[in-house]
Amino acid sequence: MADDNPRPDPAVVLDLLEAFRRSKTMFAAVSLGVFDALVGGPRSLDELALALSANRGALERLLDACVGLQLLRRADRQYENTLSATAYLTQSSPARLTGYISYSNDVMWKLWAHLEDAIREGTHRWQQTYGWDGPIFSSFFKTEEAKREFLLGMHGFGLISSPQVVEAFDLGRFGRLVDLGGATGHLAIAACRRYPQLRAVVFDLPDARSLAAEIVAASDVAPRIEFMAGDFFVDELPAGDLFALGRILHDWTEEKIVLLLGRIYERLPPGGAVLIAEKLLLDDRSGPRWAQMQNLNMLVCTEGQERTLGQYEALLRQVGFSEVQGRRTASPLDAVLAIKGPT
Ligand SMILES: C[S@@+](CC[C@H](N)C(=O)[O-])C[C@H]1O[C@@H](n2cnc3c(N)ncnc32)[C@H](O)[C@@H]1O
Repeated sequence: MADDNPRPDPAVVLDLLEAFRRSKTMFAAVSLGVFDALVGGPRSLDELALALSANRGALERLLDACVGLQLLRRADRQYENTLSATAYLTQSSPARLTGYISYSNDVMWKLWAHLEDAIREGTHRWQQTYGWDGPIFSSFFKTEEAKREFLLGMHGFGLISSPQVVEAFDLGRFGRLVDLGGATGHLAIAACRRYPQLRAVVFDLPDARSLAAEIVAASDVAPRIEFMAGDFFVDELPAGDLFALGRILHDWTEEKIVLLLGRIYERLPPGGAVLIAEKLLLDDRSGPRWAQMQNLNMLVCTEGQERTLGQYEALLRQVGFSEVQGRRTASPLDAVLAIKGPT
C-alpha cells in the first residue's frame, strides 16, 4: 500500500541515535592514549598500533572515526592531532579536559545507563550502579584516583569558565574572597589575576587539599591564595566580604541550599556579596541545551538540579540577600551576584 503522507525529516532522530557512539569514540581514544601518543608529531598506523598495544585493524577504524570527528587529521598515511585535540585531549596540556572525559567514561556513563530508573524514582543512581550509600561526595572520592580524576575534570571546565565568571561583574571593591567548595582553586586564581587587590581562601573538604595546593602553588598568584579544609554545612566559615559558590548549589536540595546560603549571609559584613557560578536555565526552561543535559546529569549523580535565575533569586531572597543580578556568559557557566544590604 502506498504511503502518501510526507514523512518528517528523521535527521534529529538519526543524529541522536549516533550521538553516544561519537562520545564513546572520543572517550576510548583518550583512554587508550591516542592523542598523547601524537603529541610529538604525526605517526603511522603501524607505529601507533605498536605504541598503544592495539589491534592494527581495529585501531585504524578508531583513528579514521577520530578523523571524521575532527579530532585527528590524516595525511601521507600519517595521523596527527588537530589543534583542539592537542589543547583539550592530551595529558601535557594545561587546558586539558581529560579528567572530565575519564570521569564520564569510567563513572558517569554507568550512572546514565540507569536514567529511566532515575526518572521513575527521582533520585541519583550511586546505590543502584555502585552499591554506594551515604553523602554524594564520599562516593565521588572513593579512591585517590577517582578523586584526582573528578577534581581535574572540574578544573578543565573551570579554566574555560572562571575567567568569564569573574569578569561578569565588577568585583574590584572586594578584599577577601572565600571560594566554598573551591576544589582546585581555578576560580580563586582567575579572580586574583583579574583583581590585584584581592586575596582568596579556597575552602573544601580535606580530600581536596593536596591537588589544590599543587595547582595554586604553580600559579602566578599563589602568595595571595590559601587553602582551608572544612565542611561548609557545619564548620565555621572563613571571614570574607565575597563568597563564591561554583557549581555547588546545583548539587543540593533546596533545604540544604537555604542552609548554606543562610550561613554565608550570617558570615558576610553588610555590603558583602555571594557570587554563584552555574549554568542558568532559561526562564521558560526551553534551553540552553547544555543546561538541560546537565540537569539530567545532576539527577543521576547528585541531590540537586539546574535552575533558572528566578529560582536562584528566590532562594537568595529567602535568606535575606537584597540585590540579585544574573549575567549569561559565553562559557559553560553563567554568573549570579547577590548583595547583603545594610541591616
Ligand atoms: C561540583 S564540585 C565544584 C568544584 C569547583 N567549585 C568548580 O567549580 O570546579 C563540588 C565541590 O564541592 C566540594 N564539597 C562537597 N561537599 C562539601 C562540603 N560539605 N564542604 C566543603 N566542600 C564540599 C567537593 O569536594 C567539590 O570540590
